[in-house]
Amino acid sequence: MANVAVIGTQWGDEGKGKIVDLYAEKADVVARFQGGNNAGHTLVVKGRKTILHLIPSGILHNGKTCIIGNGVVFDPFVFLEELEELKRGDLLPPDTKLRISEKAHLIMPYHRRIDQAREARSSGKKIGTTGRGIGPAYEDKAARTGIRVGDLYEENLFREKLRQALEEKNFLLANFFHEKPLDEEEIAAQYLACAEKIKPYVADTSLILDREARQGRKILFEGAQGSHLDVDHGTYPYVTSSNTVAANASSGSGVGPHLLDRVVGICKAYTTRVGEGPFPTELKDEIGDHLQKVGQEFGATTGRKRRCGWLDMVLIRQAVRVSGISALAITKLDVLTGLDKVKICVGYKTAEAEHTHALPSSNAKLAACEPVFEEFDGWKEDISHAREIAELPANTRKYLKRLEELADARIILVSVGPGREETIVLEDPFLNKNL
Ligand code: IMP
Repeated sequence: MANVAVIGTQWGDEGKGKIVDLYAEKADVVARFQGGNNAGHTLVVKGRKTILHLIPSGILHNGKTCIIGNGVVFDPFVFLEELEELKRGDLLPPDTKLRISEKAHLIMPYHRRIDQAREARSSGKKIGTTGRGIGPAYEDKAARTGIRVGDLYEENLFREKLRQALEEKNFLLANFFHEKPLDEEEIAAQYLACAEKIKPYVADTSLILDREARQGRKILFEGAQGSHLDVDHGTYPYVTSSNTVAANASSGSGVGPHLLDRVVGICKAYTTRVGEGPFPTELKDEIGDHLQKVGQEFGATTGRKRRCGWLDMVLIRQAVRVSGISALAITKLDVLTGLDKVKICVGYKTAEAEHTHALPSSNAKLAACEPVFEEFDGWKEDISHAREIAELPANTRKYLKRLEELADARIILVSVGPGREETIVLEDPFLNKNL
């Protein structure tokens, strides 16, 4: 019996929602450890599409404990809205426990305003953020001026922290961004009212996880975004503001690293990216359009069209190395169906060097890289009914085999459609000791 961390190997949107939902069935506890409502995990259950931004995807299964860890930046209003939406759709099972770390940092209205104002500045460098205030909330956390969920229950402290924060933020909003300042009393009233509503869910989640682990219960750590949006290891500055790699599953949820038994990397059969930043295998042609349309590649949070391109194994190998990934779940393989030829990028070339295992950390060098492709014959057959690798066309199997060789990690699951059942399951990461 093991605990499993699920990590995106690309720039997010790998289809983690579906895999986390499948694995949640086997787990007892599902914990988010980073990011906030910039994430968007799309799940299709009984033909119905549900998008979760903040609440762990495990919530749809009965009897699970779902944790929003200390490493998450938490917007309490989004949380309540999502909870209401789940209740309305009768999707909240009766015996599911939901807990929020008292140490998670709150996203405040000034975080959203500053995030959006920065992106709107024509002279500024656009990151293409989701505009949810994620970066500014993490900035305050690191600057030690953040307000934590637990602070809501010490009213004087909360008001004092808010007053101090607004002194600075309103100066910035008014004098630098030339925007209207925010009203302290209004924010205090809103947050304090919200505090009462979320109170039953607030806890020391590190203690809960420890207790569950000691009882031998299985924990699923649910990563958000992807390896190449990691603030240290991604294509900086076109990244999110948290560590998305597996190691943060430990510090972002308050458990020791010994509890991270297996790391499963989620790898879409092609590559997408939302927002700005380098993208060596991007396709700005009809094949890119095919991937975008057939793959329904719209940002789950912002609705933006995702940029699309061929599978890039330099990205995957770097992700495998940095997160200690031993197993891969391949998603959206069905989207490639119908293409005459499919390609895999096996490395990049520049005048001076070849890059096969790591992206150059300089964006200028990365921009100068030419992707080197291997080309494969495509397949026309509908693969969404396949439940075994043997049921896939020979060309599809060849593509997967080469992917696995290049990744240096075992494929343990292949998703051939959005539904829970449209999946080829090869190995169970909770049980297999050899992964
Ligand atoms: P932020 O996380 O809103 O600050 O956005 C920073 C960058 O990360 C932008 O390029 C976003 O498009 C990207 N990003 C953030 N969250 C996600 C996600 O869940 N999927 C894909 N891209 C994301």
